[in-house]
Amino acid sequence: MKKVVLAYSGGLDTSCCLSWLKDRGFEVVCFSANLGSEFSPSDLKKRALKSGASKIYIKDLRKEFADDYILPCLKAQAVYQGKYVLSTALGRPLIAKHLVDVARKEKSSYIAHGCSAKGNDQVRFEVSSKILNPELNIIAPLREWSLSSRESEIDYAKKKKIPIKTTRIKPYSIDQNIWGVSIEAGRLEDLDNEPKEDVFSLTRSLDKAPGKPQYITIGFNKGKPVSLDSKPFDLVTLIEVLNKIGGKHSIGRTDLIEDRTVGIKSREVYEAPAAWILYAAHRELESLVLDKKTLYFKELLSLEYAQLVYQGLWFSPLKKALDSLVDMTQQKLSGKITLKLCKANIIVAKRSSPNSLYKKELATYGEKDKFDRNLAKGFIDVFSMPYLGK
Ligand code: ARG
Repeated sequence: MKKVVLAYSGGLDTSCCLSWLKDRGFEVVCFSANLGSEFSPSDLKKRALKSGASKIYIKDLRKEFADDYILPCLKAQAVYQGKYVLSTALGRPLIAKHLVDVARKEKSSYIAHGCSAKGNDQVRFEVSSKILNPELNIIAPLREWSLSSRESEIDYAKKKKIPIKTTRIKPYSIDQNIWGVSIEAGRLEDLDNEPKEDVFSLTRSLDKAPGKPQYITIGFNKGKPVSLDSKPFDLVTLIEVLNKIGGKHSIGRTDLIEDRTVGIKSREVYEAPAAWILYAAHRELESLVLDKKTLYFKELLSLEYAQLVYQGLWFSPLKKALDSLVDMTQQKLSGKITLKLCKANIIVAKRSSPNSLYKKELATYGEKDKFDRNLAKGFIDVFSMPYLGK
């Protein structure tokens, strides 16, 4: 019997995929990754086996996700189209990597996923797994089967006695991990509809956020956030704590008309409190520590980095090369940034670093000014020279 390893979340799509693959004569081994969504391994296992899987691998990948995927992206300051911190996009190559590993262990030459034909995630899964193992055959049931809507999938699941929680199916499509929540479909497809409060799960509404500001101090070591209010934290815990704090202050909601890799414009609503807080603090420290050319170059690089992540090119040579460059820029990026959080705002309050390039004696307009005023005229004469006529 042919064996396939299926990326399984226990949701409607992947549950139907499981049954569909079995009907096509496959033995189905499931793989589920915990990146920080609602996750009950025992429930998943029960459902997978009941739906006919021969085996299920369940892995908590939160640490690897934070250290090897989120952190490089944060150091690169990559944001897609100004509003998306790439939370879903970053998880896909990691899942693909483990899917390929499980296929090797299981000696299977097939992998499968439950992504749709017009989304980005199919591209991310497939490009990643092709780069990691070009020999594998990839099956995407949603591109092949005749089920054309969620309703038809629910009917199919009922017919096949697949254990799905129909009552809990939300009117939106939601993808969640520790770095953020992506919410689309349902009434959000009408651009006139402002998101109702029921789409959000991490953040309070603006009117319920406290009016009193909260100060927090984030410490960095070589670009990595390592402490909160002087207490050391591992990255996963820090992100989880900042999601709570930021969520309380209604921080990190965005609403984006985005360009998908497959050419479609779509609307997605995001929540990512911890991510936006860490981006703000990290960027502030960079302003203090990096020289102006490096800062400028990093801004250009951020745009390209976000494109690579969004388009599923995580394992590409360029992305790897950019990581080395970014890491070089982060060697002196240690210090502390204090932020004031209030009513969806992230306001910088204090900054400090042993490697600060800010020199008060040069910046000051006060008595202790050490700037040599005689330097200015010559500098301006030379600087303007290329633009002057005869
Ligand atoms: N638009 C985001 C991306 O392509 C998220 C996709 C998944 N969204 C969802 N609601 N299931 O990365």
